[in-house]
Amino acid sequence: MIKMTEVRAALVGACGKMGQMIVRRINATEGMKVSAAFDLVNVGKDIGEICGLGKLDVPVSDPKDLEKVLKESKTDVLLDFTVAPATAANAPVAAKAGVNLIIGTTGLSPEQKASITDAIVSNNVAAVISSNYSIGVGIFFKLCREAAKNLGLDYDVEIIEAHHNQKKYGREGVCPRGKEIGIHSVRGGDIVGDHTVMFIGNAERIEIRHQAHSREVFVAGAVMAAKWVVDQKKGKVYSMSDVLA
Ligand SMILES: NC(=O)c1ccc[n+]([C@@H]2O[C@H](COP(=O)([O-])OP(=O)(O)OC[C@H]3O[C@@H](n4cnc5c(N)ncnc54)[C@H](O)[C@@H]3O)[C@@H](O)[C@H]2O)c1
Repeated sequence: MIKMTEVRAALVGACGKMGQMIVRRINATEGMKVSAAFDLVNVGKDIGEICGLGKLDVPVSDPKDLEKVLKESKTDVLLDFTVAPATAANAPVAAKAGVNLIIGTTGLSPEQKASITDAIVSNNVAAVISSNYSIGVGIFFKLCREAAKNLGLDYDVEIIEAHHNQKKYGREGVCPRGKEIGIHSVRGGDIVGDHTVMFIGNAERIEIRHQAHSREVFVAGAVMAAKWVVDQKKGKVYSMSDVLA
């Protein structure tokens, strides 16, 4: 009989909307276990009880104890779904503790991404960083690449992204039409996540659209990535396309 090694997964932002759903999903996934949970709220309470699962004997820890708790709990992979400044501070600590990473937080600046990547490479851990863990979005990206390759520079490209009204980032001004790709942000109600890429010519246009109906699609992809990343070559940052390849 082949003995499967259990993947021990911890969460930062465990009490948030994504965090709670991921905890429930990991708990229901064969070969995975919730090893630790971190958040600024509910510190000391049992994460299973917060997520409606009953006691899991995993207390919510203060993120300032991240390194110590990750080591004590023998965590293999840490999933981070919080806010950009928190991820920028916590991801390097996890990498230094030898823990692989799944980063879902959006709104990271290029500088924050670069310093997180440095920490991942220099501490020889593996990570997936993606602003969209949905499985269908991998196909959506492939279709966009194909259209861009075939249409060349004669078509203007515009992106419309729409998310719920609690989303923190993404309302910036629009530039006059040049050769740039314009990004337009809609914020309203309970939209889970819509992305439309428009290739606009003089007499026609192509629109490629992905719409997430439920956050479960991100949760499934993130947990799939967490199980996958622990077996990958270390010292590297992967994308969701690598996970789905
Ligand atoms: N990549 C994806 O596929 C994907 C999908 C959905 C959401 N997101 C992103 O995930 C993040 C979380 O989304 P959400 O809807 O769950 O938000 P949320 O506000 O419901 O949850 C965020 C949680 O993070 C906690 N938190 C904040 N600062 C912290 C810190 N310093 N240390 C530890 N915990 C901290 C908060 O207390 C809260 O519980 C956002 O950046 C969102 O854009 C990514």
